[in-house]
Amino acid sequence: MVTETKESRRYSPNLLVTGTPGCGKSTTCELLMRRLPDYTYFNISEFAEKHKCYDGYDESRKSHIVDDDKLLDELEPLLRRGKSIIDWHVNDVFPERLIDLVVVLRCDNSILFDRLHGRGYHESKIQENLDAEIMGVVLQDALDSYEQEIVVELQSNSTEEMDANVERIVAWQEMWLTQHKNGVTNEYQGELPKDSNSDEEQQEESSASSDESSSDESETAEEDAGSN
Ligand SMILES: Nc1ncnc2c1ncn2[C@@H]1O[C@H](COP(=O)(O)OP(=O)(O)OP(=O)(O)O)[C@@H](O)[C@H]1O
Ligand SMILES: [Mg+2]
Repeated sequence: MVTETKESRRYSPNLLVTGTPGCGKSTTCELLMRRLPDYTYFNISEFAEKHKCYDGYDESRKSHIVDDDKLLDELEPLLRRGKSIIDWHVNDVFPERLIDLVVVLRCDNSILFDRLHGRGYHESKIQENLDAEIMGVVLQDALDSYEQEIVVELQSNSTEEMDANVERIVAWQEMWLTQHKNGVTNEYQGELPKDSNSDEEQQEESSASSDESSSDESETAEEDAGSN
């Protein structure tokens, strides 16, 4: 007996914008949404709170602990449609098959200090985030979780850099559309090569990818979603 499963495909990309808290994810996404108004924006801190995707409370961090399984149960049907902009400092939760571009925003430490200090963060929390940024924890997590070709590291120290980043992401998604006219599968591809999309081109993402990966040892980034 042959059982048929209908393959689901998306025809627009899912963009993940990640980086240490304070690097400018939400501000960048806000600008990006103005350029891509038919995309859906998922701020995962807010999404997790709204959908109660929590598994307890971390007293030391004064923040909820996000239940990754619950989060994915809620989010996956939405991501399967494509056209998503995802904003979260944790990036390794989202399955590779649902993510088309991972933007890792980076920030110089003195600037990041000012931003976090300006938020009134406690000294220990500022230091934890500065350490994570220096060590490139989020970038390393992204490189560990996704094909290097879809991970792009962008500096976000100034508004000029942020504007340029938005332009670059918009240009990348336009290129994706022209190169994936038949969409890409939402399904797990098993033993097939990781980027065996419908189209043959394997270099399409490379123009968006970073030239170097500059991180050192990784350590778990703080899991303080929703703790602002
Ligand atoms: N490239 C930039 N140039 C100047 N200011 C910036 C830039 N990026 C962010 N900011 C400022 O830094 C602050 C933090 O930015 P934002 O809230 O976007 O960070 P975030 O990465 O979303 O943080 P979190 O993970 O805590 O949500 C904001 O006040 C924002 O205006
Ligand atoms: Mg934010």
